[in-house]
Formats: sequence, structure tokens, C-alpha cells
Amino acid sequence: MCGIVGYLGTRDGLDVVLSGLRRLEYRGYDSAGIAMPHDGQIAWRKRAGKIANLADAIEQDPLPQGAVAIGHTRWATHGAPTDANSHPHVAQRVAIVHNGIIENHDALRAELNGVEFSSETDSEVAAHLLNKEVDGGASLVDAIRTVAAKLEGAFTLVAVDAQDPDRIVAARRNSPLVVGKGDGEYFLASDVAAFIAHTREAVELGQDQIVEITPDGVNVTTFDGGPAETKDFHVDWDLEAAQKQGFDWYMRKEIFEQPTAVADTLLGRLNDRGELVLDELRISPETLRRINKVVIVACGTSFYAGLVAKYAIEHWTRIPCEVELASEFRYRDPIVDPMTLVVTISQSGETADTLMAIRHAREQHAKVVAICNTNGATIPRESDAVIYTHAGPEIGVASTKGFTTQLVACYLLGLYLAQVRGMKYGDEIAALLGELERMPAAIQGLLDNSQPVLDLAAELADATSVLFLGRHVGYPVALEGALKLKELAYIHAEGFAAGELKHGPIALVSDELPVFVIVPPRGRDQLRDKVISNIAEVRARGARTIVLAEAGDEEARAVASNFIELPKVSTLLQPLLAVVPLQLFACELATVKGHDVDQPRNLAKSVTVE
Ligand code: F6R
Repeated sequence: MCGIVGYLGTRDGLDVVLSGLRRLEYRGYDSAGIAMPHDGQIAWRKRAGKIANLADAIEQDPLPQGAVAIGHTRWATHGAPTDANSHPHVAQRVAIVHNGIIENHDALRAELNGVEFSSETDSEVAAHLLNKEVDGGASLVDAIRTVAAKLEGAFTLVAVDAQDPDRIVAARRNSPLVVGKGDGEYFLASDVAAFIAHTREAVELGQDQIVEITPDGVNVTTFDGGPAETKDFHVDWDLEAAQKQGFDWYMRKEIFEQPTAVADTLLGRLNDRGELVLDELRISPETLRRINKVVIVACGTSFYAGLVAKYAIEHWTRIPCEVELASEFRYRDPIVDPMTLVVTISQSGETADTLMAIRHAREQHAKVVAICNTNGATIPRESDAVIYTHAGPEIGVASTKGFTTQLVACYLLGLYLAQVRGMKYGDEIAALLGELERMPAAIQGLLDNSQPVLDLAAELADATSVLFLGRHVGYPVALEGALKLKELAYIHAEGFAAGELKHGPIALVSDELPVFVIVPPRGRDQLRDKVISNIAEVRARGARTIVLAEAGDEEARAVASNFIELPKVSTLLQPLLAVVPLQLFACELATVKGHDVDQPRNLAKSVTVE
């Protein structure tokens, strides 16, 4: 949700910031802009639409050369995606870029009586407030301190002053910002992807901190001006991982990376005594033995991973497990106490709804474990412990390898809890881990034989509505299949628990409605038989049935208009496989329809506003 880049160094600031913005475009693509202090003034360009529009504008009307620049790519909140509402916002000698929402912007506008505003954004107030401060003699860093104290809401605010050109300052509260440290050059960005081409050394900032960058280095202080705690870290993926490598879309590349991502998330989990190790889970076994409830909070696709986790955790540990949308959690006064283990799942680690949910949980003294893919992000930093998924950068806006690696991390957590609480012992753990270890090859098999799914997408390109049905862990997979189709192909799609069909949704079924059904593996015969009956019910009403079932399941094949074979797997792990054809189907259908798969309309990768 909005990408920010700042650069101070020895190269051409415009080049560095523009290429950084391109890498952050997944965070928002409603508009883009760039500002540089130059000759006592601010030079800037900004344009509605994608970064290509900004680049065109700069080509037609070049910016001066300079080694200090800030840039922004926007996901609109306040004010439509127009040129005027794009960032940077310039107020005389000051330019700012902002990510987040300034909740009290109306009150602050009133305080700036007499100032002429040129946009409808909440952000512009910050530019005028800062300009007022520096105009009154404050240094830029003191000015941002004063202004940050006035702002309510979430913000990363980055500013330059034309009359103090060798300095960039930034303030952050509840919104991401990392510092990159190169050789005599420094970067500020919402995400390390912006500067990974130049340096892999980064500094993780804390909450309510101010960063000042000059040619002499980086100085971080608290909002009060005191010394601030920061953490240096090394980014362990490289530029190549963040490029498309011959695929048409990042999303397709990320779907195909799932065998490796799943294997990486599983790496090194079994010790030579046959025990599952989760070294990073820094919560003592005694505490884990005492908890009496698990509450999973997450949003979107990560929430669906949480729904799968509930089945596994309850089955393996017999601890009651609730799953809740993070955006609902804190507003309903949930019952959470020191005996509750709150598990938060977030690929980006920056989702505002999820962050607020864990803060609420920690206020109630619950222990919080984050499952996250982004090193140094706010959610893991504010949690008691973190299990990192090792999916590598996920750039396509729709989550794919993020989801499957979250599933793996959830399974590991569930098994670990079962081990610690004496519910599962060596052989059983080793057998389940062994099965998990066979998943990368099984996913690869699905990817290698995916042509029928691609053909099906082309055939169904004109569908206006699609249904997804599943039971047990197949139900969250149905929800995820529907979400992928909605967000990428802009087709109305619904996921239902197959057993619910007869309670209402069956009224939707007609010969114009394709219905995907995920069939549980054999061995769960009671459940499987019921799903097969559900398929027969929709087929009897003329629907085209696309059935995902275990290879060799002839009964499932018999009720299928199209049959997608899944490798043999136990029920709880089936989502790792069943989701893959659904991801590919949505990606391909959106491609056939000519949509931008990596940057679907109205969406952003990381939603840092509530
Ligand atoms: C859908 C998708 C979103 C995210 C959701 C949570 O494809 O990616 O639904 O899953 O916005 O994001 P994270 O996991 O970053 O908290």
C-alpha cells in the first residue's frame, strides 16, 4: 500500500529512485512521482497511472541531475488517482512522500488557515506543516519531530528541504520503512526490494522513530529525540529472485517456485533424534504446555491458510482453535488471556488489520506467534516469536507461494505443539514430516502436467460466475480458489462448504455455472462419498463440474465434466496440492482476458491501512 523510495549517495538519484519505484509498484499503481532538492528549489514530476507514465513525463520534461531524491508509488486512499493527488506533495521549500492515513487531516488543515491546498489528500497537510516549521527556522529533523507529534494515524513520512539539500529525513509509525546501507550511499524504502540491486545490508527500524540520512551516515532517534533501538540485517535473497526470469507474470513464476519454496520452509526441521525442531519459536515448552486455546488472526489468503491450520491443530493437539478475520478481531472484545496462543499469519508482515489485532492480543497478555515471509517486518517484530516462511520475495499481488508456505509453517507449528504436549511422538512426527517432505515433488508433478488446466481456463473465459465447493480442509481451498478468480479475472466467484449447498447456494446452479469441487482423498470415505453426492447434485442441474480428486478415484471421475488428478496425500495436507491448479486456472484465465495479472485493479500487495 504505497511504495516509498529515498536515495542519498553519489549516483544519479533519479535513476536509483525510478528503478526502486518500479520494484515497489506492486504496492500501489494509481500514480507515481519523484522530487529532488535542486538549486534551492524542489524539482518534481508526478503522474496518475503506472510508473511508465511518470517515466514518459520525465522524458518529455527532464529533471535535473542530483544525488538526492525521494519517490512514491500510490495506492489511493484519500482523493482519486489524479495528477494533483499524486505524491510528492510540495510546499514551497519542502517535498514529502507519505504512506498511511493521517486521520486528523481535517483538523490540521483548519490549523493551516490561509494555506492554499492543491490536492484532496490527507498527506498534503504534512508538507505544509513541515514547510511552516522549517520556514520558522527549525531544522528538517526537528520539524519532522514536531509534525510527527501532531499526526494521528499511520504514517511513513519522508521529506527533503530544498535549502538543506544533503539530507533526507523520515518518520514512521505503524507503516513500513527500512534503511539500506551501501558504500557511501543510503536508501530508504517501504521494502528492501527497492534497493536490493545496490545493497543487501539493511537496518530494521522500530516504531515511532525518526531517521536522518546525510553523506555522513544514518542517525535514528525516537520521536522524543532519544536514542533509538534498531537492528541491522542482511537480506538473504538477491535481485534475480525478484525478477521474472522468463515468465510472463511474477505470479506464474511464483506458482512455479512453490516446490522450492515449500522445501525451503521445511528445511532442517527434523533433528537426528527424530524430533521436530522449531528453534525460532522462542516461547518455552512450559508456556506452550499451559495454553488452553489457539486463536489465529489473519486476512484474505492468509486467513484461509489459518482455516486449514485449525483442522490440523485441533486434530493433532486437541487444543481448541479459533480462526478470526483480523479486521474483526479487536472490535468484538475477544476472549484472549495469558493462556491463549495467538497465531498471526501475514506474508508481508505489514497488514494493518493484522498488526492491530496482535497489539490487542498482547494487551490482553496473550503470547503471539507470527508466521511471516518478510524479514524485519512490523508484525514479526511485535510478536513474541516468529516462524519465517522461506518463500522468497512474492511480488505478484495475488498470494501463491506465500499461501503454500504458510500452510507448511502452520503444519509445523501444529506438529510442534503436539510434540511438546505429548500428543505425538517420534515415529508419528517423522512420518508426517516425511509426507510433508514429499510435497515439493508432488507439487512439481502438478505443475508439469498443468496443460489441461490452462486449456480449461481458455474454455471458460466467458463465464460470468464460478462456484467452488469443498469440505473439511477442502473448504478453505474452495474459498481461496474463488478469491483468486475474483481478484485476477474479475469474475464473480464464491466458495462454499459443499454441505451448505443444499441450504441455499444450490439455487444458483444452472448449465451456465461451472462448479469446481475438491474431493477429499480416499481413506476419508464418509466425507468423500458425501462430496461425490454433492457433485452429482449439481451435475443433475446441468452444471459443468470440474473435479479435483486423487488419481485413480474413478467414482469422482464418473461425475466430472473435467477431471483434475491430484497426487495421493493424506487429507490434512491435501490443500498444499489442491490449491495449485486453482492458482494456475485464475492466472491463466486473467491472462486470456488480457488483464494485468501482477497488478489487478484496485488492489495492492500490502495493505497498511485499516
Ligand atoms: C490475495 C492476497 C490477500 C492477502 C491479504 C493479507 O491473493 O494476497 O488476500 O493474503 O491481504 O496479506 P498478508 O498475508 O501480507 O497479511
